[in-house]
Amino acid sequence: MRVVILESAKQVSQRSAKHICQVVEEIPSMTLGLATGGTPVGTYREMIEYYRQGQVSFAQVTTFNLDEYVGLPRNHAQSYYTFMHQQLFEHADFEQSRCHLPDGEAEDLSAACEAYERAIDEAGGIDLQLLGIGTDGHIAFNEPSSSLASRTRVKALTRQTREDNARFFDAPAEEVPKLAITMGVGTICEATEILLLATGKGKANAVRDLIEGPVTAQVPASALQLHPHVTVMLDEPAASRLARRDYYLHVEALQLELEA
Ligand code: GLP
Repeated sequence: MRVVILESAKQVSQRSAKHICQVVEEIPSMTLGLATGGTPVGTYREMIEYYRQGQVSFAQVTTFNLDEYVGLPRNHAQSYYTFMHQQLFEHADFEQSRCHLPDGEAEDLSAACEAYERAIDEAGGIDLQLLGIGTDGHIAFNEPSSSLASRTRVKALTRQTREDNARFFDAPAEEVPKLAITMGVGTICEATEILLLATGKGKANAVRDLIEGPVTAQVPASALQLHPHVTVMLDEPAASRLARRDYYLHVEALQLELEA
């Protein structure tokens, strides 16, 4: 696991967007896994900037989002479908038919989950998966106690997650949906490369548990310790509870020397 500690959230956005755009440049028809939440918004802004400056095209990229609320109409202001269109897709040359999100309105939710897994397979799997992390250590909507081998399915959200996400709904936690379709931990871990972003002090415990804690279903993000190609990009506050912070900084400085 490569742990990159940067001074600010802005640097996390810049560095992550640069990396994503480099991969897209190398493999224009790559498959990109995308995340929602506040954390990747800055990354998406930087990606749009690369596009506007003519440095990258997403026209051949296929995308798969991690998750979607169950029961929210697609065009609801807080659906992840709306979020992705507003924050990224409509500002660059993404081909709509290749941008996938789970169908939270499906009559048969388990069939929709199976179809999503099939679509990922048919696209040849995910080349690069972008992730955030919940304050309780969840990735996508894989809440604590999710099987580390889980596939795309419906999950009940924890009280904590509904409280954390209530800020987007501008409403009390009770109004945040109780269920979501989410890629499983097993699905996510099949991506060739994973890039997890975390910023702010509120993520410091989850980040410590992800990087330095035991691998446990109580912290679904800890499953990433078993993945061979993961980069965790953090700002200083998110990295503030890491016991080996100085070592990670030392390794990263050596790595950058090698890359120069
Ligand atoms: C939601 C999403 C996750 C995201 C998490 C953290 O629960 N399903 O994919 O990582 O929130 O969000 P934020 O970046 O807003 O802290």
